[in-house]
Amino acid sequence: MPKHKKKDERSAREPVVTNTVVSGSRPTGDLHLGHLHGALRNWCKFQDAYSSYFFVADWHALTTEYADPSGIQESTQSMVLDWLAVGLDPERSVIFRQSAVSEHAELHLILSMIVPVPLLERVPTYKEQQQQLSGKDLSTYGFLGYPLLQAADILVYKGDRVPVGEDQLPHVELTRAVARKFNNLYGEVFPEPSGEIVRAAKVPGTDGRKMSKSYGNTVNLRDDPETVHNKLARMVTDPARKRLADAGDPALCPAFRLHEIYCTEEEKAELTEACKSASIGCLDCKKVMIKHVLEDLDPIRERRTALEASPGLIDEVLDAGAKKARVAAAETMAEVRKRVGVK
Ligand code: TRP
Ligand code: SF4
Repeated sequence: MPKHKKKDERSAREPVVTNTVVSGSRPTGDLHLGHLHGALRNWCKFQDAYSSYFFVADWHALTTEYADPSGIQESTQSMVLDWLAVGLDPERSVIFRQSAVSEHAELHLILSMIVPVPLLERVPTYKEQQQQLSGKDLSTYGFLGYPLLQAADILVYKGDRVPVGEDQLPHVELTRAVARKFNNLYGEVFPEPSGEIVRAAKVPGTDGRKMSKSYGNTVNLRDDPETVHNKLARMVTDPARKRLADAGDPALCPAFRLHEIYCTEEEKAELTEACKSASIGCLDCKKVMIKHVLEDLDPIRERRTALEASPGLIDEVLDAGAKKARVAAAETMAEVRKRVGVK
């Protein structure tokens, strides 16, 4: 839930409400089950109820990949193909590349006038990422501004809902702070957006760590059924169950996190009992879950194959989306320029 200000802090001003959803993703290439349950399904749900903007954050990719940006184009293609296969619909939401809408950069520049540098330095992802990606020089101006560019992405469409993974909440918080400061200085223009996270989002990878391409533990949306089966059949389970006779505990079993997402209540109850009484083997237990995962992925794979038959489709979708996005973004920027007092 969004944090509401106390009534007396609201003063007489009305908060801006737009019912607009904005979210983006850096082009990471093939999507996996973590993306599906972490963000994508959630994005799809928003398409009908709100005006929705979903974009490829290729400038954000550049903040860390500037020394070798060669993968960005290809990753964009395969990521957007997966988006469409899962059910993002260019008829119902605006799907585009960030770099095709220069208003994001213009708003980023204007917001850079009002954001205190210490506020950016204090965003937890700043130091964390610098440490994690220590092979790259991230002491750059652009990387410090990463969350501010994200704020511009959201505010240029006056987004008030931002469906993201939990790790992105500090960036949404920064967006709120910057929107508030702008509104205080120049009058009410921007909503203060709330981050919307999904509960079932935590999908473990086949090794039990967070599912991530960099760990090589993913089940990809485009894996064929046999690959999916084999990966999940090998997925780690409760380490206490070395042999069939050892009782286990689903609460300590990474594979069972997928049962929780995919299985019916009856299946979960039955398998929990069977695990604790050592009356089922792990493979048989997993098979119940694997069947559901395969059923979930079948239609996605079919749609992807159908979409792949039309070459150029992704660029068409992205170009048409950028046209629509520019109209909305230009409108906001006209208002922003006027309020700030620049041409
Ligand atoms: N930083 C986000 C991520 O890594 C991607 C992103 C960029 C984004 N701009 C955004 C997400 C605006 C939501 C809204 O996942
Ligand atoms: Fe996990 Fe099922 Fe094996 Fe229990 S029986 S450890 S829940 S896979």
